[in-house]
Amino acid sequence: APDISLSNVKAHLSQFQSIATANGGNRAHGRPGYLASVNYVRSQLDAVGYTTAVQSFTYNGATGYNLIADWPGGDTDDVLMTGAHLDSVTAGPGINDNASGSAAILEVALAVARTDLAPEKHLRFAWWGAEELGLRGSQYYVNNLPAAEQARIGQYLNFDMVGSPNAGYFVYDGDNSDGVGSGPGPAGSAQIEQTIQAYFTSIGVPTRGTDFDGRSDYGPFIRVGIPAGGTFTGAEGIKSSSQATLWGGTAGTAFDPCYHRACDTTTNINDTALNRNADAIAYAVWELAGTPAPPG
Ligand code: PHE
Ligand code: ZN
Ligand code: ZN
Ligand code: ZN
Repeated sequence: APDISLSNVKAHLSQFQSIATANGGNRAHGRPGYLASVNYVRSQLDAVGYTTAVQSFTYNGATGYNLIADWPGGDTDDVLMTGAHLDSVTAGPGINDNASGSAAILEVALAVARTDLAPEKHLRFAWWGAEELGLRGSQYYVNNLPAAEQARIGQYLNFDMVGSPNAGYFVYDGDNSDGVGSGPGPAGSAQIEQTIQAYFTSIGVPTRGTDFDGRSDYGPFIRVGIPAGGTFTGAEGIKSSSQATLWGGTAGTAFDPCYHRACDTTTNINDTALNRNADAIAYAVWELAGTPAPPG
């Protein structure tokens, strides 16, 4: 897998910050900063050969949008999907939550194009609307997938908050081996968890499991039996002293003290955490997408 450029990911964060600043300070559902965010991501993907579509839905009397981008090629009966929510809360620009995941998967999608990747599986990327109002965009997408299309999605990877300033290195506990969450996810979630863990092991960073309970956009996928996984660097939870020993940072302080606040700006990002997670996403996509058998 390629090494994802931290400065490229951060350039996307700056664009999302500028979009929020120009649109009343946020990128929330039903606000102009949300649609501007969709247009920014879409234009980047269209320029490098993705097939993009915007799916509209209505929630709370406002129109929401999911952006879906397909990389041409691969086995369309075996789709590897990667997603992040693109909306913020109304309180602020949502740079860690979740411009971080949105920018990281965007840069991975652009790396797919730059390397002209031709994997065994078909790759699809998604940027979800209205996650902050209850996973509305991802739920709408799953609800409106014809049964045959749903069956073609083999795996879903989710990234929500991957640059928390007082970061932890959490991997969704798909096999429930850490005993957190509400039990193991669909069979196949364990393979995703192990693939992500293998990346962090390779760079010498310990990980811990985190609840696989549906508190982000993978929820609608696992509820219909699609294996899923992802990473998370922590939200309002407080870093314990043992976690500070494990990962560094500050015990007794939230992983993200600006969670859902106006101060979730471009200064609310831990570059090391963002860089490691972007590289982990690329590793997972490359490993899980598979290499086609050579011809002959
Ligand atoms: N979905 C939560 C939010 O956007 C954040 C979160 C992500 C919490 C992953 C737990 C696990 O506010
Ligand atoms: Zn979030
Ligand atoms: Zn949030
Ligand atoms: Zn586990």
